[in-house]
Amino acid sequence: MSWLKGFKGRVETDVPLANLTWFRLGGPARWLVAPRDRAELADLLRRAYTEGVRTRVLGRGANVLVRDEGFDGVVIRLTDEQFARTTVDGLRVRAGGGAELMPLALACARKGLAGLEAMAGIPGTVGGAVRMNAGGRHGQFGDVVDEVELVDERGEISRMRKDELEFGYRRSAVGSRTVISATLGLRQVDPAETMDRFHAIGAEKKRSQPLGDKSAGCVFKNPKGASAGAMIDRSGMKGASRGGARVSDRHANFIVASADATSADVLALVDDVREAVRREQSVELELEIDVW
Ligand code: EPU
Repeated sequence: MSWLKGFKGRVETDVPLANLTWFRLGGPARWLVAPRDRAELADLLRRAYTEGVRTRVLGRGANVLVRDEGFDGVVIRLTDEQFARTTVDGLRVRAGGGAELMPLALACARKGLAGLEAMAGIPGTVGGAVRMNAGGRHGQFGDVVDEVELVDERGEISRMRKDELEFGYRRSAVGSRTVISATLGLRQVDPAETMDRFHAIGAEKKRSQPLGDKSAGCVFKNPKGASAGAMIDRSGMKGASRGGARVSDRHANFIVASADATSADVLALVDDVREAVRREQSVELELEIDVW
């Protein structure tokens, strides 16, 4: 553990990650650290970079599948108040990378601050939402981002403006950098309008997606102009299973895990689904979830 010698933060070792993800699957992290401020975060990243220790930032684990063998590196959580704080100043919102998306979206909707209603039903963090450009048919997080503050793997802090972030379908130019905070620009409307929209989008997802089950949301990206869910459905894979993992009957682009499932079950089912869609529709599906 020499690479951590003199590090001021609290380091936990061999920490099970399953309970920190929505899938509730996977093995431990070799190290887990929740830095108390950006200096500690930068120091940790710099040390890991120098020593060749792998790093991952874990938000709410809403889009992550941790392998059964766990993650041999350091997992960073931005749960400290320093990183989870949000402040509203007129139409500008500054949100920490570790802030939870849905409470933020709801708080804004209550004030009639429009632009985040499409985040209803997405149990992630602001950092994850920037990185993945989270969203769906009704809008994407990148639509409202003005600027983000980042720290790179060498511990250097920088800023990127919207045009530099190159938001696209489930992508951004964040890369290996960690999101410290995001500044959002919203619009003022009647709160009744934003609340209605927030609830309508949430209700629609609740109706069409298995939000109460253990999953990581949509498993595959939608191929250009098509729906991966509809393709998987047409390939006859709804309800297909491997061990404790099953293709959701409600939405075929969700894999749901039962209490006895393993990550290997999910990965085997991912391969089965890919194979079926390749065979039936000649399309190669690309993973949307992050596998650690
Ligand atoms: N469909 C089926 N069978 C299914 C699922 C869907 O036939 O099992 C059909 C639906 O009837 C509909 C079409 O496929 O005609 C599209 O389905 P849906 O409206 O559910 O949208 P989607 O394209 O599957 C996308 C995002 C979701 C997001 C929703 C709503 C992707 C991969 N998925 O789903 O995002 O919540 O739009 O905006 O981009 C996620 O990223 O984790 C996620 C769930």
